[in-house]
Amino acid sequence: MISKIQEEILKLKKDKNAVILAHSYQAKEIIEIADETGDSYALSVAAKKHDCSAFIMCGVHFMAETVKMLSPDKRVFLANGEAGCPMAEQMEPELIAQLKAKEPDRAVVAYINTTAALKEVCDVCVTSSTAVQIVEKMDADKILFIPDCNLGGYVAKQVPDKDIKLLEGGCPVHASVTASDLKRAKELHPEALVLVHPECREEIVRNADYIGSTSGIMNFAKNSDAKEFIIGTEISITEHLQYACPDKEFYNLSKKIICPNMKLTTLMDVYKTLLNMDKNNGKACEIKMSDEQIKRAGVCIDEMIRLGG
Ligand code: 13P
Ligand code: SF4
Repeated sequence: MISKIQEEILKLKKDKNAVILAHSYQAKEIIEIADETGDSYALSVAAKKHDCSAFIMCGVHFMAETVKMLSPDKRVFLANGEAGCPMAEQMEPELIAQLKAKEPDRAVVAYINTTAALKEVCDVCVTSSTAVQIVEKMDADKILFIPDCNLGGYVAKQVPDKDIKLLEGGCPVHASVTASDLKRAKELHPEALVLVHPECREEIVRNADYIGSTSGIMNFAKNSDAKEFIIGTEISITEHLQYACPDKEFYNLSKKIICPNMKLTTLMDVYKTLLNMDKNNGKACEIKMSDEQIKRAGVCIDEMIRLGG
């Protein structure tokens, strides 16, 4: 049954000249039919190179918005229109604009997990895989990092010569992991290396063997000589790694690291988006942005590609 729907999707995708992008947190059956998979940064860059009519994003809303900003002449659809990211909506643009007005020499660095409206008041975007490199390269010595204080705190430690101010915010999924979860996982698997995403709290990151983005964690595990790993990011990554490296053992740092938004998208959502994308019946979630908004919010995405590429 699953493979039948996958076949239909592959046929429709070709007919419609559409490209499917899937974040690595998506289910295996979606990863299998995607043209591009990876972390937030890899998807943003990959989207730029395709000569297609439309993109279908299997991920969350800010990711589809980012693709639209990078390819404004293409139609961009979010496979499941309900899939948002709570962190992306945590801060109001007005608050950041006020802080900027008070301290104009402090550059605002936004994690890519932000709405386009928030990006409009920021100077540069970063992803988890490019944050340290971009903050190091920036001319500004004073920085306001939003919205994830865990990622921001990690960056501040790596770039100690810059004055990095943080606000309270972050990913509720990664921030749910506690030191006692880590203690328990280490007791159960004393030989395993601990690989964590920098969206986790400082008490977790401080005790990890490797800290990196989704792709960073996957590449580290695949290339390592070690045989056992505790995975401190969305539990889908543990599953994908188990398939990719059957001779190694992967354990979840905590069973709480499940992102309900990333889990929303199904193969049927992708199929229905392809079926309805040209019908104007409201059954496909197309990302609509004005040219002005793309221009204003796109400045910090372009700056991210310039400094992070
Ligand atoms: P990356 O894709 O940059 O690793 O970020 C993880 C995440 O939480 C995406 O929403
Ligand atoms: Fe947002 Fe966290 Fe889910 Fe990523 S894992 S989409 S940052 S809530």
